[in-house]
Amino acid sequence: MTLTRVCSLVDLKEDEPAGFEVDDVPVVLVRQGETVHALADVCSHAEIALSEGEVTREGLECWLHGSCFKLTTGEPTSPPASVRVDVYAVTVEGDDVYVDASAPTNR
Ligand code: FES
Repeated sequence: MTLTRVCSLVDLKEDEPAGFEVDDVPVVLVRQGETVHALADVCSHAEIALSEGEVTREGLECWLHGSCFKLTTGEPTSPPASVRVDVYAVTVEGDDVYVDASAPTNR
């Protein structure tokens, strides 16, 4: 387990995806209240950054073809994507947001 500090909690705006490189892994963070979700920042349908999409009630939506990915499991809820994206563990300590991008939690 490799926890890497990525940003401050205040840097993340509610439901606004933000892309980061965490130990050479592209990761998108989504804050919902005091909870922060971390997913791979690459759509499973094509090489598109999910951080350029938007959060809907279904999850994180890819802007190119509209597939949505659940924030907790990375599962696609709508086509054309059919494969889940990786999800990573997030730890929030005070105002610091840490992500373990060394191993997905949903495989
Ligand atoms: S590239 Fe994301 S749904 Fe097609």
